[in-house]
Amino acid sequence: MHVANLEQAFSALAEEAAGHTCYGMDGMKKEAQDMIEKIAPELLDGALAAGATHVEHYEIATYEGLLRHAETMGVEDVVALLQENLEQEQQTLAKVESAAARLAQRAATSPRI
Ligand SMILES: [Fe+2]
Repeated sequence: MHVANLEQAFSALAEEAAGHTCYGMDGMKKEAQDMIEKIAPELLDGALAAGATHVEHYEIATYEGLLRHAETMGVEDVVALLQENLEQEQQTLAKVESAAARLAQRAATSPRI
């Protein structure tokens, strides 16, 4: 859905979609890999859930920025597509935050090894 919406947005702007290296996302992937290697196993799920919230916030900030540009340009069809993606990211964030809270609570109440 996200990719299809973005492709449709590029098409509406008469622009060609091209690949792009996202250094911020690369950094978050490396951070998650580092946690997997270093963190205590009983804390790993919570740490990864917290990392997932970073990713969702990053994606939300990106869509908010794109939306501001699309609104400024007055391209309402693109605004609608980006808004749909933003809302999905916000819904995902709510789910990830809920899971992170449950995992943090579980870690806090678990006996220490
Ligand atoms: Fe996401």
